[in-house]
Amino acid sequence: APTRRKLIAGNWKMNKTLSEALALVRELKGPAAALPADRVEVAVAPPFVSLAAVAKELEGSALKLAGQNCHWEASGAFTGEVSAPMLKDVGCAYVILGHSERRQYFGETDETVNKRIRAVLAAGMTPIVCVGETLAEREAGRTKDVVEQQVLGALKGYQAAEVANFVLAYEPVWAIGTGRTATSAQAQEVHRALREQLGRLFDVGTAERVRIQYGGSVKPDNAAELLGQPDVDGALVGGASLKAGDFAGILKGAV
Ligand code: G3P
Repeated sequence: APTRRKLIAGNWKMNKTLSEALALVRELKGPAAALPADRVEVAVAPPFVSLAAVAKELEGSALKLAGQNCHWEASGAFTGEVSAPMLKDVGCAYVILGHSERRQYFGETDETVNKRIRAVLAAGMTPIVCVGETLAEREAGRTKDVVEQQVLGALKGYQAAEVANFVLAYEPVWAIGTGRTATSAQAQEVHRALREQLGRLFDVGTAERVRIQYGGSVKPDNAAELLGQPDVDGALVGGASLKAGDFAGILKGAV
């Protein structure tokens, strides 16, 4: 099996003013630079309004930038939206798509995620496609069905060569912001199932290349255990990405 470079990404959600954002990335540069770049990649996803300034602050650093969402059209009359070419232009390498908060509060569906992926690829960036079940779905024994359906809908129509570079993020909704982390065995089980699904939908070589991050209450004290699972290729970190010390602690868990 190929070694997949781990991707640790901080999803800041709707947090940090511009000055706070700059202060945080200044503190993250050192810890990020200390990692073996061939094995671990690090990214941050600040709110849109801070991206350009954060990009400037990060010039010459190994830290990469991600958008938290983007529209599927490149430009036009879509008040309040931000497009993929705009994110690329300010220096984003990744765009998070289909986060459960977007699905829950902003009407995101597998179909709209599917369209947004096309825009992200067209702009020359990499999508981070989020999937995950709710607590009720898990308790009903429907976890695999739910996440596989989300993957199917999001990736429909894409070629293996495109998908190989995608990042998936498995974020069980019940673990997000709750302090209730999936156990490493629970995470591994779903990650394995997703990789097997990718093997069936595309081919085994493609499935082995896709990086699958885990997200949901990742903290310094559980990061190493989660990231040590064979199919856990990184973390998408919310709350613990807002404090430099916590995020640095998680980065240590990746090596
Ligand atoms: O996208 C990251 C996320 O939803 C997890 O949030 O706060 O549980 O780490 P948190």
